[in-house]
Amino acid sequence: MSKADSAGSKTPDLTLGVAVDSLADGGTLLGHVGDDDVVLARAGDRVFAVGAHCTHYHGPLAQGLVVGDTLRCPLHHACFSLETGNALRAPALDPIACWRVERRDDRLFVREKMPEPPRASREPAASGEHPSSVVIVGGGAAGLAAADMLRRERYEGPIVMISADDDPPVDRPNLSKDYLAGEAQDDWIPLWPAETYAQRHVDLLLRTRASSIDPDSRTVLLENGSRRDFGALLIATGAEPVRLQIPGAASIPVFYLRSFADSRAIVERARTAKHAVVVGASFIGLEVSAALRTRGVAVDVVAPDRVPLERVMGPEVGRFVQSIHESHGVAFHLGETVTSIAGRTVTLSGGGTVDADFLVIGVGVRPATAIAERAGLALDRGIAVNEFLETSRPGILAAGDVARWPDPHTGERIRVEHWVVAERQGQVAARNMLGRRERFDAVPFFWSQHYDVPINYVGHAESWDEIVVDGDIESRDCVVRYKHKGRVLAVASIYRDSDSLMEEAAMEREPA
Ligand SMILES: Cc1cc2nc3c(=O)[nH]c(=O)nc-3n(C[C@H](O)[C@H](O)[C@H](O)COP(=O)(O)OP(=O)(O)OC[C@H]3O[C@@H](n4cnc5c(N)ncnc54)[C@H](O)[C@@H]3O)c2cc1C
Ligand code: FES
Repeated sequence: MSKADSAGSKTPDLTLGVAVDSLADGGTLLGHVGDDDVVLARAGDRVFAVGAHCTHYHGPLAQGLVVGDTLRCPLHHACFSLETGNALRAPALDPIACWRVERRDDRLFVREKMPEPPRASREPAASGEHPSSVVIVGGGAAGLAAADMLRRERYEGPIVMISADDDPPVDRPNLSKDYLAGEAQDDWIPLWPAETYAQRHVDLLLRTRASSIDPDSRTVLLENGSRRDFGALLIATGAEPVRLQIPGAASIPVFYLRSFADSRAIVERARTAKHAVVVGASFIGLEVSAALRTRGVAVDVVAPDRVPLERVMGPEVGRFVQSIHESHGVAFHLGETVTSIAGRTVTLSGGGTVDADFLVIGVGVRPATAIAERAGLALDRGIAVNEFLETSRPGILAAGDVARWPDPHTGERIRVEHWVVAERQGQVAARNMLGRRERFDAVPFFWSQHYDVPINYVGHAESWDEIVVDGDIESRDCVVRYKHKGRVLAVASIYRDSDSLMEEAAMEREPA
């Protein structure tokens, strides 16, 4: 019996058995068990059978990479335990199913589905090490991943999450991509279903801003005048968009894209608008441009850069990304800024003008350090944390866009603005609040999407002396290595997901 996979090809029925030889060490094989797509994966002498679809965005795990007894997703590098199915590392938060595998002679048979494992990755820490309560300031990537991990690790004390947002934590990368383009529904956006907060006893305070922290009395003060005591505190306040003062800007709608509410507001405006000006050729600016083009809105991008994304990806990839956008009708005004707006007329620094029904500004962010600064925590262009993500005051940790940590791979203290890093830091911070003493040593990873072209990036390179292209950027089939003195610091890739995973695994093995 066979079943068609999503690409339409037949997959073997794994209950009927496959030859042991068909699976090399580190190999994967896609098959099915009844209606379920299942991957067989071999790690040394052990063979595992797990669900074939990543619980993040349904990535094809059969095309992933086996590293030790884990399976990595090719799309955004989530990491699952082959033994238990647990999502060990974000962006997936939920486990994949596991089946029992039996070896008879030279054949492997997949038997019954195993009961869902406890979501914890290990035994709980001794309860004496647990804080009396946890307060998380920030309802974003790091904050939600921390709350999720605390409950997975069987922390039973109270968790309060304080968020200035209107909405519960959302899948923010979607807000500048499919959601903005009209290709994702509203109910795909929340990270947890609404009822999960009550089920997992996470007290989520929305539209609530923390105004200060008193590290001595272990209290967080809220702008509404109330206070929350904490045994342990996680600051996950993220970053705030840099705001531009443009003369005449009050004459048309001007948007910044940070929250679900911002994305909904842009969608609403784009429904009737014909022409938008996007200020900034950053990842967000360009993703917004792509989404607006998908909606049929004409887009002019205005940015001071010579080449979009050059600072992060170099001129070759930057020019390529620019060309994709141009082929979809985006007009670039590079080396320019917006000097003023009068009605629908936007004047540029070069003297030219463009029409706009609205503006979207994406010119970078600053870490939201205000409460940390007022509390006297050590700062370093962000909140300074050690390898355990601890701030300068005991019991107070920081994670995500706001935190600068000692990165073992570059040997530098770095701060990045990547979704996966924020979530993974939230997860490690949660375990450290429970006394694990776990170093944050994940290799930074981010992805970006421009129409049908995904770009994956592993590592961290603020500067380089050589860029080596393997494959062809224009053909959308390449690995681009950013090197310093011969050492690979970071790797960007387009449609080379296996290579990206292998580069990440290699960087994990080789700290500086
Ligand atoms: C539109 C968009 C698309 C993106 N796409 C990608 C992508 O494709 N890939 C990628 O790698 N990265 C992407 N990023 C970056 C990524 O979203 C961030 O790196 C990530 O969200 C950082 O997580 P965080 O938890 O540190 O902060 P955030 O997710 O920003 O969360 C911060 C939270 O803190 C709250 N807060 C701040 N101050 C206070 C206060 N004083 N009191 C109470 N609450 C407070 C905020 O309201 C918010 O809830 C994108 C960012 C945006 C804006
Ligand atoms: S689909 Fe697997 S990590 Fe995103």
